[in-house]
Amino acid sequence: MNDFNNVNSVIKLIIGLKVKENSIVLDCTVGNGNDTEYLSSYLGDKGFIYGFDIQQNAIEATKTRLSSIGFENYQLFFDGHENIDKHIKEEIDFAVYNLGYLPKSDHMIITKSETTIQSISKAMDLLSIGGCICVASYISHDNGVEYHNIKKFLKSVDQQHFNVAEMDFVNQKNFPAHLFIIEKRN
Ligand SMILES: C[S@@+](CC[C@H](N)C(=O)[O-])C[C@H]1O[C@@H](n2cnc3c(N)ncnc32)[C@H](O)[C@@H]1O
Repeated sequence: MNDFNNVNSVIKLIIGLKVKENSIVLDCTVGNGNDTEYLSSYLGDKGFIYGFDIQQNAIEATKTRLSSIGFENYQLFFDGHENIDKHIKEEIDFAVYNLGYLPKSDHMIITKSETTIQSISKAMDLLSIGGCICVASYISHDNGVEYHNIKKFLKSVDQQHFNVAEMDFVNQKNFPAHLFIIEKRN
């Protein structure tokens, strides 16, 4: 078993470190619900998932997916993740962004740096001490525009308040996604 195949395997490692049974977690790009469903397996009765997507069919399909496994502690919003502050008033322990477009779907529906950065900034405000945000960003989706803008924003974050790291799979072909990891410091 390998742990460092790609961004998704590393996000799973971080979920294992950071998400507990009573955690409040956020999936900011629900899509097909893979991350949402994976997160549900870590949560108990006191845990909760909030999810966002601008594609209603993605929200509906993920609701069906979660119901079919009997998971009930979730609320999915058909709304942009730039509006998380309108819906979530409590501290969160973990958030994930899987940016770009949904494979095998309309590639014109894609995350955009302005709204993504607004959302990450709001998620950082909601984050508990020790909590973590993972952002998978695909350089190939828009010639790297969103990736470079996010990186510029994250480089400006005060290191006294947040640890920010980037993972790049340097020997992989075809422009693999990079992973930004943001952890709120004590
Ligand atoms: C790469 S896919 C996410 C994959 C997903 N995590 C999964 O497990 O299948 C990116 C998703 O972001 C969504 N999206 C684009 N802009 C958004 C926004 N402003 N707020 C929330 N979701 C957005 C798209 O509709 C798409 O479903």
